[in-house]
Amino acid sequence: MLSSSRLLALSTLVISLVLDSASAIVPPGQQGAFNQSITQSSDGPTTDADLIAQTVKQVNQKSGAPDDEAPDADIPPTGVTAIDGVLTSASVADVTGLNSAHRRRPRHYFGRFDRRQSGFEEIFAGLPADQHDAAIEGTAFLTYTLVPNSTYNVDACLTWAATIDGCVFVNLYYEFNNYLLDFVFSEESNLKCAAYGDIHNASEKTNFGGQASYPQVDNNTVPLTFITQSSGWGLQSLIDPADPDGYSLVFGPTGGANNAPGFMGFAFIDRYDVNACAQLCNGRGIDPVGGGCAYFNIWRALVDGLPTTYTCAMYYLVTDESTAVNTGQGDLVVTYSRGYKRISVLPDGGFESYTACDDFCFTTSYATWTGTSPSGGSQDASIFFHPPYAYTGHSVGLLGSAEDVDALLGTLSPAAPLATKAGVLYSIQCFMNTAFSGSAVEASANV
Ligand SMILES: *[C@@H]1O[C@H](CO)[C@@H](O)[C@H](O)[C@H]1NC(C)=O
Ligand SMILES: *[C@@H]1O[C@H](CO)[C@@H](O)[C@H](O)[C@H]1NC(C)=O
Ligand SMILES: *[C@@H]1O[C@H](CO)[C@@H](O)[C@H](O)[C@H]1NC(C)=O
Ligand SMILES: *[C@@H]1O[C@H](CO)[C@@H](O)[C@H](O)[C@H]1NC(C)=O
Repeated sequence: MLSSSRLLALSTLVISLVLDSASAIVPPGQQGAFNQSITQSSDGPTTDADLIAQTVKQVNQKSGAPDDEAPDADIPPTGVTAIDGVLTSASVADVTGLNSAHRRRPRHYFGRFDRRQSGFEEIFAGLPADQHDAAIEGTAFLTYTLVPNSTYNVDACLTWAATIDGCVFVNLYYEFNNYLLDFVFSEESNLKCAAYGDIHNASEKTNFGGQASYPQVDNNTVPLTFITQSSGWGLQSLIDPADPDGYSLVFGPTGGANNAPGFMGFAFIDRYDVNACAQLCNGRGIDPVGGGCAYFNIWRALVDGLPTTYTCAMYYLVTDESTAVNTGQGDLVVTYSRGYKRISVLPDGGFESYTACDDFCFTTSYATWTGTSPSGGSQDASIFFHPPYAYTGHSVGLLGSAEDVDALLGTLSPAAPLATKAGVLYSIQCFMNTAFSGSAVEASANV
């Protein structure tokens, strides 16, 4: 089955020419100018850090184990809580239109089980058994289970946590007066173990219970739920994620988000999931100037020191740590910032490794590309170093006679076979310009 999680970007730039020997056009081989002025790729918009910060204030991603749902529910796929400043509640598949079957996470996405299990430590202890306590309401709640309550069963909770994909923290507590725990669920236990994909601390104990769970009988007061001995166990930091399919890590983790050009927009997701962010980048669509998403920056937002949301910012230009300068604003602090760029299976898709001069030169082949003319043609496929011809950078591929000596189109081919993989779906991105010879002459161009 084709997997769109392996989308790879190709980026080439081609000028199409059909020259008319009767015209007065100065051909590219003689450094002629474009007939029509062209819109060269600008740097485009930069990161809208203010909109991101405003949206962080509006979003609420904090939750915990529900008091009215059965334990051991499947972990839902990573959700999207905001897109470009508008709050939403959607799955990544809804947002991208990519089939959910294509975006399974690798099994060891957050690292190996043994690493996590051995790394869990007590982050905060529960209050003494005779006092009311509170359960965590925090980001990245995954699922919960009930562990045998004959003792305060930390081991059972941590053993279970090690089987939960993405779990880096658990909150263990008793919940009293919950009718479902006391009389319905087969576990016959009121000791809840709730798994999270982020690490929380005692200041996030905000769920004190207080629900009426028992049925009303006669005029008797219905006892309200309450919590005791709420402790937290977790890692000291989030585990380094594996690179998403089709992407490579550019930098991170650091405390700086990118403030960079080529910004396409952002999404908030409900856990720190680099694969979800990669899927959002794959499915982001095409910027009419910059093309597809080529880079994303994922980071965790702390507000007043507490995990609040996970930003996925998307760019059509690749950037790096040099622009990762936004450490936050006000009570918002950037943490776990990582940049990933899309891997292109096409080496040198922008012809930028052709550097035989520093102003103007051209060739029919060099290390990474080979131009071939049709029979009887000459220089019908070539590569130019000349920044005014280039869409980005300094070089461009040319299809059409470089010296205006025939009306044939040649072929530009990568010098080495592309390392594509069977069964993988690739997207091809090509910036093309046919404005060199003017609309009348180019009318019969057939690229
Ligand atoms: C552009 O091409 C048209 C013919 O297609 C010609 O009349 C015009 O002079 C050209 N303009 C420039 C700036 O080369
Ligand atoms: C264990 O949980 C069950 C079901 O909620 C409850 O009836 C029982 O009292 C609990 N035992 C302890 C020791 O808390
Ligand atoms: C419930 O309270 C009402 C009003 O106080 C009273 O009239 C009624 O007899 C009570 N019912 C029972 C079963 O105690
Ligand atoms: C919990 O985290 C907040 C924010 O970082 C910090 O201010 C607070 O001291 C922490 N509380 C505990 C009990 O560690």
